[in-house]
Amino acid sequence: MDYDVKDLNLAQQGKLRIEWANQNMPVLNSIRERFAKEKPLKGVRVAACLHVTTETASLMQTLQSGGAQITLCASNPLSTQDDVAASLVKDSGISVFAIKGEDKDTYYKHMNSALDLKPHMSMDDGADLVFEIHSKRKELLEAMIGGTEETTTGVIRLRSMAEKGVLKYPVIAVNDALTKHMFDNRYGTGQSTIDGMVRATNRLLAGSTFVVAGYGWCGRGLASRAHGMGANVIVTEIDPMRALEAVMDGYRVMSMNDAARIGDWFCTVTGDIHVIRKEHFERMKDGAIVANSGHFNVEIDLEALVSMAKKRRLIREFVEEYTLKDGRRINVLADGRLVNLASAEGHPSSVMDMSFANQALSAEYMVKKAKTLSTNVYSVPTEIDRDIARIKLKAMGVRIDRLTAEQRKYLSSHDMGT
Ligand code: ADE
Repeated sequence: MDYDVKDLNLAQQGKLRIEWANQNMPVLNSIRERFAKEKPLKGVRVAACLHVTTETASLMQTLQSGGAQITLCASNPLSTQDDVAASLVKDSGISVFAIKGEDKDTYYKHMNSALDLKPHMSMDDGADLVFEIHSKRKELLEAMIGGTEETTTGVIRLRSMAEKGVLKYPVIAVNDALTKHMFDNRYGTGQSTIDGMVRATNRLLAGSTFVVAGYGWCGRGLASRAHGMGANVIVTEIDPMRALEAVMDGYRVMSMNDAARIGDWFCTVTGDIHVIRKEHFERMKDGAIVANSGHFNVEIDLEALVSMAKKRRLIREFVEEYTLKDGRRINVLADGRLVNLASAEGHPSSVMDMSFANQALSAEYMVKKAKTLSTNVYSVPTEIDRDIARIKLKAMGVRIDRLTAEQRKYLSSHDMGT
């Protein structure tokens, strides 16, 4: 079996951490048990490009139980948990190509090693596999039946490919599922981003000013958690509706130019490029902390900062201090890569449980339905989404009401007024 991981001796630690995560993944566990009996993915080759974490390990084991043959590479050079990669190879016999801190060439070399499986399905977090297959590994297109995509940024890329008519196989946008983005993007990103920023800096949030760039699901979660830790939260936005929502949620909303002067912490979660750039660095206070929790490391214009700095040093693990010509210091966390996975462990298992249940069930759905789907981006079927919510509630011991016959009748009538 081919693989490339940091050190197989880390496997035992990885195995225990995977077991720990699994204890909080009841939905995925129930799918794994069914998959083990029914083998819905028998003979299906899946190349996965995901953050190599304990939760991803549980998903890989679930697909494997369903009969799939899998290769796994990292969807970000800094997010790999090396002990997990080792355990997947040693304990589960899965081909993993991922090493934390790998350079760009190794990142793409690993991706291509994963693709050498000649997959039938791609499973992406950011659409890198789809893009590589469509641009440099076109010979693989013939065997592909479909793919799944985990994240907002990836779905945006895929929709752009579909609109231009260049997408060559159907892909299910897992991110569209309510049981994904309402929980993973909001509570997962909210908690894990704070976790990453605090682990990297060990600075106090209470009483500080925390600037959240972007008020999508991730921004909403992050703003709420920063507020919960006692920070004064400022939101920046380009969308008037979202800006209005942030105002009514109780946050100060202003332009980044204005926020730049008063923020102690900055975190981008927009999915767009150069949201924090030269004109903002020029205004920031001495000691400002700048991070990104969006998928790609493009949200902070680091090149501009490099050109403005007279000195640069790694002052703590994951904290790069840039000293500007006037002496102000700006601290960039994790090289502007997703701070929640680089300096913490990503979203907690309890939310990844639902995200990855969507992945596993979407893979099963794709195998069953691929022939009926065209080369487009599809949402997760509503039945799957609602089933996941039901199983999750049950596992959490939460019971909810059902409509009475009278209520059902009322809802379907138009003539039962006052
Ligand atoms: N994305 C965000 N958090 C994650 C995690 N814990 N595992 C895999 N992908 C993630």
